Amino acid sequence: MTVSPMTMGLSGRLVAVTGGGSGIGRAICLALANEGAQVAVLDLDEASAQETLAGIAAIGGAGLALRCDVSDAESVEAAHAAVVGEAGHPEILVNNAGQLQRGGLADLPVQAWNDLLDINLTGYFLCSQIFGRAMLDTGHGTLVHVGSISAKEVIPLGGAYSVSKAAVTMLSTQLAVEWGPRGVRSNIIHPGFVRTPLSQAAYDQPGITEGRAALVPSKRIGEPEDITSAVLYLASPVSSYVNGAELIVDGGLGRNLMSQLPKTRTS
Ligand SMILES: NC(=O)c1ccc[n+]([C@@H]2O[C@H](COP(=O)([O-])OP(=O)(O)OC[C@H]3O[C@@H](n4cnc5c(N)ncnc54)[C@H](O)[C@@H]3O)[C@@H](O)[C@H]2O)c1
Repeated sequence: MTVSPMTMGLSGRLVAVTGGGSGIGRAICLALANEGAQVAVLDLDEASAQETLAGIAAIGGAGLALRCDVSDAESVEAAHAAVVGEAGHPEILVNNAGQLQRGGLADLPVQAWNDLLDINLTGYFLCSQIFGRAMLDTGHGTLVHVGSISAKEVIPLGGAYSVSKAAVTMLSTQLAVEWGPRGVRSNIIHPGFVRTPLSQAAYDQPGITEGRAALVPSKRIGEPEDITSAVLYLASPVSSYVNGAELIVDGGLGRNLMSQLPKTRTS
């Protein structure tokens, strides 16, 4: 079958990607650069952001790399000012920087709860607000948030992670409703199992890859590149009438509960 290439309309656009130094964020940066976008790679770890930028340069792309702690308003303001000074106002923001800190709710310290929400929830809000200002002023902008299927299917003993992802789902929806009339779209994608530095320790344990893949109707663990096409779509003007949407990219994992039931004689 011949597939015609779709023009994504991202060429020449400036996109800021948080957590762009690793895993899904890095893959998003490279995919955007491959579409001709200019990418501002923001990460807590500046060296990893620089590595992503080197990857962008290696495929002939352009961008810049900056340290940014999304949980710290001053840091986000400083990174935003640096991006604007060097490249202009980003038209698109991909909120991706996140962490997973495990813990059971019975004895999770409130500091651990707050620290995780500061990154995974407040960080998304701060970046949306600070990078969104110029979008609202110009009446033109796009927000894409990286959520998780754990917004819907809880990770037991996963600390505040699932709560943070459920909350950013509503944040995305609220932004869509409040900012849609002002020309700014907001959508969220929910990855399932993806092999990245965040999750690699689990896959290093015997049987985990096979056991998890068996639960996925597509029968494999996702790679960061599996997530990028959904982000490109939502970042692109080809999705201009998509606003307030949730796009699940999980190989069907979240829809597979019934096949896990004990088999009866008729099933
Ligand atoms: N890996 C998975 O299976 C999976 C599944 C669903 C959703 N996600 C989500 O995808 C996103 C990316 O995760 P990943 O798996 O690529 O993880 P990763 O650990 O490979 O990358 C996360 C990046 O975010 C950066 N970061 C962490 N805290 C930051 C902060 N305060 N400010 C700025 N940058 C910060 C890290 O330095 C790192 O470069 C996260 O939001 C995560 O919750 C991942």
